[in-house]
Amino acid sequence: ARKTPPAAADAEVSAAEAKDALQRAHSRFKGVKEGKNADYIPSLAKVDPGLFGIVLVTVDGRVYSVGDSESPFAIESVSKPFTLARVLQDVGAAKVEKKIGTNATGEPFNSITAIEQNKEANRPPAGNPLVNAGAITAVSMVPAKSADERWTRIHDTLNDFAGRELPVNEEVYRSESATNTRNRAISWLLKSYDALPGDPMEALDVYTRQCSVNVTAKDLAIMGATLANGGMNPVTGKRVVDSDNAQKVLSQMLTTGLYENSGDWSFTAGLPAKSGVGGGIVAVVPGRFAVATFSPPLDKAGNSVRGQKAVESIITELGGDIF
Ligand code: DON
Repeated sequence: ARKTPPAAADAEVSAAEAKDALQRAHSRFKGVKEGKNADYIPSLAKVDPGLFGIVLVTVDGRVYSVGDSESPFAIESVSKPFTLARVLQDVGAAKVEKKIGTNATGEPFNSITAIEQNKEANRPPAGNPLVNAGAITAVSMVPAKSADERWTRIHDTLNDFAGRELPVNEEVYRSESATNTRNRAISWLLKSYDALPGDPMEALDVYTRQCSVNVTAKDLAIMGATLANGGMNPVTGKRVVDSDNAQKVLSQMLTTGLYENSGDWSFTAGLPAKSGVGGGIVAVVPGRFAVATFSPPLDKAGNSVRGQKAVESIITELGGDIF
């Protein structure tokens, strides 16, 4: 197994530095008015757009917070890297590469065009595990004998990354299940190309439930810090996945974590991150810490506006870009 490189002695973030960076980002960006809550999932449109929380968790388990750090919200696409971690752990990286693909699509997270173009070019149609097509395929690749078992294995994985039992937001689950017609089309299209094992509607239902899990910015920061710490949760001390697999998840987040804006993100912030339409973002500095933000208004690609600005500012202050 891969050895996790030790953090440089001067890479440790002091309590004062972390608190200052968080506080400054929160006061600088709380008044930003750009962006709009996701409205294609009706229950996300109702969330208070003024909520704004930021949390930083270090690989030695220290937690620093500012603002609405304990407000629950739907994890949505921020769940995708953690299900990817489950699949990597269970079936290995080679199968993920071959059956889902790992390249950025350059297209929105729910693109059907991208599936068609990949198929045309003889690439795996789903694209990568962090767009909807690849994430639904990843769910279908979790070894399980029933839908219940598949859900439990994914839920347990999210819980282990967070270090607590995460509740499902039943309202978001119902709302999303009633309106996810495009994801149904994506799932059946993948099935038609024999690119999704098992029952596509079962995989989609488990995926929808996975997206409806409620988290706080603090949960996301602990989940990210588990990846930063080579797959071991720094708060609970539990090993969740092998360090090789944590590294693969981070590599995938660097190139595809913010959808069609992933290139811009890597260029600007220089580190792996993942966003969700519930307003969450988690960014990871390997071997050091993770920062998570919650702020519902999104840009056109589906990424939290205040969240991106806050992460960029904190990472700049703490020297967190990986290059
Ligand atoms: O499948 C969907 O459309 C949602 N459950 C999740 C999408 C998402 O979070 C994309 N995010 N930026």
